[in-house]
This record gives sequence, C-alpha cells and structure tokens, in this order.
Amino acid sequence: MTASPRRLTIAIDGPSGSGKGTVARSIADALGYRHVDTGAMYRAVGWRARQLGVALDDEAAVAAVAQRATFSLDEGRVVIDGFDVTTAIRTPEIDRAASSVARLPAVRATLVERQRALGAEGGIVMEGRDIGTVVFPEADVKLFLDAAPEERARRRANDPAHAGRQAGLDRVAVDMRARDELDRTRAASPLVKAPDAVLIETTGLPIEEVVRQALEIVRRTGDR
Ligand code: DC
Repeated sequence: MTASPRRLTIAIDGPSGSGKGTVARSIADALGYRHVDTGAMYRAVGWRARQLGVALDDEAAVAAVAQRATFSLDEGRVVIDGFDVTTAIRTPEIDRAASSVARLPAVRATLVERQRALGAEGGIVMEGRDIGTVVFPEADVKLFLDAAPEERARRRANDPAHAGRQAGLDRVAVDMRARDELDRTRAASPLVKAPDAVLIETTGLPIEEVVRQALEIVRRTGDR
C-alpha cells in the first residue's frame, strides 16, 4: 500500500484534558503534516492583551490586538509579536484570560480567518473547540475527543506544560469545570461535537491507544 498523495485537513476538537493535544501532535508527526494548536492562539492573545493593559472584556480592543498580532507557531513554540510565550501561557491566569477572550465574537472572527489561512493548503492537523464546526466544516477527518471530568482534571494536573504554577488536583478540577462550562455554554461557537465528527471516548485508555485509533480513522479516510 502506498501512502496517500492527498494532503488531508484533520480537525480535532474536545475539552481540556481530553488528550487532543497529544493526539493531534502524534498524527501530525506520523503523517508529516503541520500541527496547529488554536488554543495557544487564544492564550497568546489573552497574554498580549494583559501585557498591553487592554481590558479583557473590551471586545474591539482585544480584537485589535488579535488582528495586529504576528504569530509563530512552529516546533512547539508559541511566539506572539516577537515574545516567546510558550511557557508563560500555561498558567491559571492565562487559562482564565484565554477563556475570556475566546468568548468575544470579534476576536474569534479574526483568529478563525487566520486559522483558515494556515490550513488553506491541507496537510494540517488543527486542534481546538470549533475546528470541525466553524473553522473547517468541510474537513476530511473530524475527531471529537472526550473523557470523564475526573480523568481530564488528573491529566491536566500531571501535564508538565502546566506544572510549576499548578495547584492541587481539587483546585484544577474546580477551575477546569468552570472554564469548560463557559466554553460549552458561550453564545459564540460553543464547544460542541460536529454531527459528522467521530467521537473517541478516552477515559481509561492509554494515550498510545487513542493515537492508534485516531490514526486508523485518518488512514481509512486517506485510502478512500
Ligand atoms: O485548548 P486550550 O485550553 O489551550 O484553550 C484555551 C482557551 O481557548 C479555552 O478556554 C478554550 C478556548 N478555545 C476556543 O474557544 N476555541 C478554540 N478553537 C481553541 C481554544
């Protein structure tokens, strides 16, 4: 069997701690595709707005920050306007800031446009909350990862990217639940599974098994 020449667009959505980051990275590595973590873009805009002293509920001002920003998202690093914020955006403060700016329709419109441009050529694995529903409704493959809240909180508490500043498991669980609730109930592009997305329930599964299942689904599509 030869490798498929088609360069697919792969959308991966799900709440925090569902495993989507690891799965998206692994699939991109396996296929030689670009990986884009759109959550990092919302985080970077939240970080930059705070740094500039912009109120996080000032929609026009935050949207202007997003519009003017230059992003570099390669090789696991996140750079906005020349500032490497790879580690700075993984703190409880930026968890909250990202969730705030992600509620603003004008900010979403700007970032969605940039995300579409990044994926215009295909050969991309994009992860987030609205990739299969809004950014790429025509994606070749749509996956929606989910897991029980306790397991998602445990994974987040053990995630080295979020280490250092992390509080105990109970605090992580409470904060995560509050943010998930905002993501799922906000008016603008709430976190919801696209009707044609394949649900992968990852509770109790080792991440290697989730990656294997996801790659299997992608390969079946590529062979069609
Ligand atoms: O995946 P994450 O935790 O890094 O995302 C940070 C925040 O951004 C989170 O509140 C969800 C939001 N987000 C979003 O609304 N849409 C996306 N495509 C990605 C993230």
